Amino acid sequence: MTSRVIPVAPFVLTVFGATGDLARRKLIPALFHRDLAGQLPAEASIVGVSRRVFTDDEFRAFARQALVDHVPASEMQGPEIDRFLARLHYVPVEAEAEQGWLELAGMLSQQAEGIRVFYLATAPQLFGPICERLGKYGLSENGARVVIEKPIGKDLASALKLNQQVGRIFPEDRVYRIDHYLGKETVQNLMALRFANALFEPLWNNAHIDHVQITVAESLGVEERAGYYDTAGALRDMVQNHILQLLCLVAMEPPSSLDADAVRDEKLKVLRALKPVDEHNVAAVTVRGQYRAGASAGGAVPGYLEELGSNRSQTETFVAVKAEVENWRWAGVPFYLRTGKRLASRVSEIVVAFRPVPHSVFGESVGPIDPNRLVIRLQPDEGVKLWLMIKDPGPGGIRLSHVPLDMSFAKAFKVRNPDAYERLILDVVRGNQTLFMRRDEVEAAWRWVDPILDAWRNEKDPPRPYTAGTWGPSASIALIERDGRTWLEDGA
Ligand code: BG6
Repeated sequence: MTSRVIPVAPFVLTVFGATGDLARRKLIPALFHRDLAGQLPAEASIVGVSRRVFTDDEFRAFARQALVDHVPASEMQGPEIDRFLARLHYVPVEAEAEQGWLELAGMLSQQAEGIRVFYLATAPQLFGPICERLGKYGLSENGARVVIEKPIGKDLASALKLNQQVGRIFPEDRVYRIDHYLGKETVQNLMALRFANALFEPLWNNAHIDHVQITVAESLGVEERAGYYDTAGALRDMVQNHILQLLCLVAMEPPSSLDADAVRDEKLKVLRALKPVDEHNVAAVTVRGQYRAGASAGGAVPGYLEELGSNRSQTETFVAVKAEVENWRWAGVPFYLRTGKRLASRVSEIVVAFRPVPHSVFGESVGPIDPNRLVIRLQPDEGVKLWLMIKDPGPGGIRLSHVPLDMSFAKAFKVRNPDAYERLILDVVRGNQTLFMRRDEVEAAWRWVDPILDAWRNEKDPPRPYTAGTWGPSASIALIERDGRTWLEDGA
């Protein structure tokens, strides 16, 4: 099976922060892959912008190195590299002053007609100043779109301010807030599974589902990102955005279509239905942790405080939360969420755990009857598993086994799995906002997160230590086992 390539209209993509980490690791390789696939029209061009003084050629050399570092060598053999690099231009611009803006306007006016996209791969405090000048220099007109990256604020107040600053120049239907989890193949598959199969939806409620687990575990530590990370922590960095978005896609009502607002209206209702967590219940339903030195991938690794170079931080590198969606469909169904750095392995998955059979017709000799589980594996080894009870083959009496119907996407579809940014950047050009967060969604997510942060701030105890290379503090295990349940790896 091959994937279809749907060409996009001509565009000029201006990337602010073009010499930064995101551009180097993600944006430049993503655009190159789409060019390689034949999806970029001949007129499409990319204008890199940052403070750094670069010529076009220096920027092209920088981009070439980014491709060498982040694209497999087998995909870098042909003339396509030079064709791609020829699309690149560069203008040094001061985001918070006037230098470079007229030159940028001049450069953009020389490009072919097409959709104008401004991608702000910069620190969030520059979103306001950049948008203001895009307006002032007449660059926000003619349907231009702006893309912003998380973190969109560090709490509700700062998110409101950022959204206002951007909203003063760009109307909401031209603002694209990226949550790259929404661009992941398997995350979209969640919508396909739920809404393109008649099988699941009748069971998708508290009558049949016992609980849901969402795990986003990373084996890496914070390393050189310690400076940023220490101001954020796992709740802001992963839960406020990626994990709540996953929760929304599991819990939302079927939208009437995949139109951006139809989907986002349903996600918003889920965010608004989350049971508040505050100083009254924070100790019972959340666990925060911080890694200490340990072993990961076979080697010794330092603890968070050593990486940070300070022993005073109380920033959490792990969080587990028992969340609840207070509506008719989900009343009484806990959503156990956990994420952390330096955990035992890198795995992201959603486990939908169904209720046990109401009555067993089998005797005790068949062994336990485990409940059905649907596991959506986001990474690595993207795929879907449905755990079922079956009879062990062979003569004699009946014995039962819990086995997965296992579909690995890599085996089923022999196509490259595109990076989330490849899809998302081109969705901006197509004008499709379905996979981007609307302003009210971001704000609703902060409304739920803020009281947790406040309650933690008032707690006397620091985050619980856990050894790098484990599944987090033992309190996280206790959190779920108190309810008679257990964290499931691979749904087993
Ligand atoms: C980012 C977080 O949004 O997502 C990082 O800031 C995290 O801390 C990353 O490592 C995880 O993304 P992925 O796609 O590797 O799962």
